[in-house]
Amino acid sequence: MTDAEATTARAEAPPGLLIVGLGLIGGSLAAGLRASGFGGRITACDPDAGELRRGLDMGLIDAGSTRLAELAPAADVIVLAVPVLAMEGLLAELDALNPGLKGQAVTDVGSTKATVRDAARRVFGRVPPTLVLGHPIAGSEKSGVAAADPELYAGHNVLLTPEADTDAEALARVRALWQACGARVLEMDVERHDAVLAQTSHLPHLLAFSLVDTLARQDARLDIFRYAAGGFRDFTRIAGSDPVMWRDIFTANRDAVLASLDDFEAGLARLRAAVEAGDGDAMLAAFGRASHARRYFESLLNKTSYQTEYAMQSQSQVTYRVRPGGSARGRVRVPGDKSISHRSIMLGALAEGVTTVTGFLEGEDSLATLQAFREMGVAIEGPSQGRVVIHGVGLHGLKAPSGPIYVGNSGTAMRLFAGLLAGQSFTSELAGDDSLTKRPMNRVAEPLRAMGALIDTAEGGRPPLTIHGGTPLAGLYYDMPVASAQVKSCLLLAGLYAEGETRVREPAPTRDHTERMLGGFGYPVARDGDTCWLEGGRRLTASPIDVPADISSAAFFMVAAAITPGSDLTLEHVGINPTRTGVINVLKLMGADLELIDEREVGGEPVAEVRVRYAPLTGIDIPAEQVALAIDEFPALFIAAANAAGTTRLRGAAELRVKESDRLAAMADGFATIGVEHSLHDDGIDIVGRGGAEGPSYGGGRIDSLGDHRIAMAFAVAALRAGEEVVIDNCANVATSFPNFTELARRIGMGLEVQGPETESHHEP
Ligand code: S3P
Repeated sequence: MTDAEATTARAEAPPGLLIVGLGLIGGSLAAGLRASGFGGRITACDPDAGELRRGLDMGLIDAGSTRLAELAPAADVIVLAVPVLAMEGLLAELDALNPGLKGQAVTDVGSTKATVRDAARRVFGRVPPTLVLGHPIAGSEKSGVAAADPELYAGHNVLLTPEADTDAEALARVRALWQACGARVLEMDVERHDAVLAQTSHLPHLLAFSLVDTLARQDARLDIFRYAAGGFRDFTRIAGSDPVMWRDIFTANRDAVLASLDDFEAGLARLRAAVEAGDGDAMLAAFGRASHARRYFESLLNKTSYQTEYAMQSQSQVTYRVRPGGSARGRVRVPGDKSISHRSIMLGALAEGVTTVTGFLEGEDSLATLQAFREMGVAIEGPSQGRVVIHGVGLHGLKAPSGPIYVGNSGTAMRLFAGLLAGQSFTSELAGDDSLTKRPMNRVAEPLRAMGALIDTAEGGRPPLTIHGGTPLAGLYYDMPVASAQVKSCLLLAGLYAEGETRVREPAPTRDHTERMLGGFGYPVARDGDTCWLEGGRRLTASPIDVPADISSAAFFMVAAAITPGSDLTLEHVGINPTRTGVINVLKLMGADLELIDEREVGGEPVAEVRVRYAPLTGIDIPAEQVALAIDEFPALFIAAANAAGTTRLRGAAELRVKESDRLAAMADGFATIGVEHSLHDDGIDIVGRGGAEGPSYGGGRIDSLGDHRIAMAFAVAALRAGEEVVIDNCANVATSFPNFTELARRIGMGLEVQGPETESHHEP
């Protein structure tokens, strides 16, 4: 085709979009816009008349020319899809045609932004307000318009890097263009863009080019590639990319690429040293971190895994719709105990030797703890079907993490970590999600400071916490003002690193998993009545851990069976540590038909099958000594109370106000919605149950769980005796403690449907 032919007859072409550079990127933009029903005229300018003809034949463009001057003046929006080093000449040509780009929104697709910005400054003396620099994060190793794909940008990010004085209308036009192709448009500044892309795109391309080039040179006949399998193919696909484009990118983004290459070389040197020394733990630690991070990344792309919901829980909309009625029958084993799972990773990491954990809870909270230790250099295999193998590094073997430790929704993790990290030589930061960021941390920060730790909190003693390393700790006698296993455990963990004895007195018995597990790891913990203590400076020896099913999760199904006529449900392998059995004690006091079968001890923790059948319940005054023993089970117990005959009264439970939500208020709000008579108190609640086997105990309605897993599960169970559907919003956090709750709920006969992303069954492969 001649230049003249390529220029279709367009004396008075309607204004529209001009794509300069009709290759894969420009062509896919045209294709995406066409597919979206974009009504405007699309023209293209390219030095290759053959590409223009192909674009016309494919129906992607209405007109094409090899000369910019023929198309640019009529365009409203111009997209520069040429290699970055060609941008300056192009901008100068555009300036000559329309000085300062007035009235035209111009954008580019270059992989580096500082060079394009600098080119614009040289040409125009500034970045013109209508020039909106951008970069679609999508592509393929293919090039040319023939490879144009209307779906190339769908679901991908497009990064725009507007300046402070960028014209709002031009920005909106460029945004709209990409959004029409199904892309997500984000804004960031030029420097950040270039640094991020150097790491995530430019460095991997350099490595792929280098690997293929190195191998190809070693084997001039390229015989070696005959034997190359999937790994080689996956790793080197991008080495087939356009060499000119990449020469320009590495020239343009030189400094940022060199910085990321330095980091990479340091990491490679560490791995080389590990391979050379045969240091299996160091390899496992690095591979484990990488493998986990890769799966996390995969899940972000696929939007399927637990981690995705974890990362996006503030936005994620998981709603339970629960049909009224249903049954509670069968045998189920709920997932592993959350408290014990956290501790198994912590103590396993600090022990000497290899600890194998079975029955580990693969919920978001305990997985965050596991990942935190990986980030501190601990080699951890799994989890796989609840099995985790931890290669302990000893009390002084942790390494400084490269960034803040994120513990998600978990108060237990944050408080226990605070004690453990206070004893390290490095400084660390602990951060959590929105809910955790509201919870009180002075209850650990203050006694830790009394031991000599240096801890900063945000205002009001809230997270995040900064724990300064290298400060010597001294043992402390601490009389806890609140009954808290988390505070007790935090201080005992700090006590491992302290000079002398650390003693903790508790105002009421709280869960003693830390003491038991320390004992199991050969670290003596003494107890006399309400006080326990240990001496710092000893060592932990690896020991296998069998995590029982979590009584706190089982509690929802115990209550389900206790309130549902005709029920007969057996919960298997439930942990019945006496510091956790408040729920069983209270249900029995209310008249529940609840039986413990085959009581036994497994790895230092008592377990049993728990069989529950329906029996009419009666309201009671909950004995004060049961409060700490049932602290996590009250949302479930309140549902039992709503189905009992008469009033159930709870007092002395102000702690419920500082859990994942204010659980007294959250339950009261839910009761108000479904029509359960109650009165709220500062430290408790009175619940007037309707009781009886006949008919529903209350109505239905729409409830906000406030992102609190236990509020969500409690109201799901309530639906068994509701007169109408119960809809519960904000349920994503159920995955923190009970990842397969909805599956098991359906299995026992509850009519539970999930709207939004399912939060369960996202086990790692
Ligand atoms: C836990 C202790 C309890 C409990 C929490 C888990 C633990 O908190 O509510 O879910 O694993 O130590 P407090 O110790 O703050 O009461």
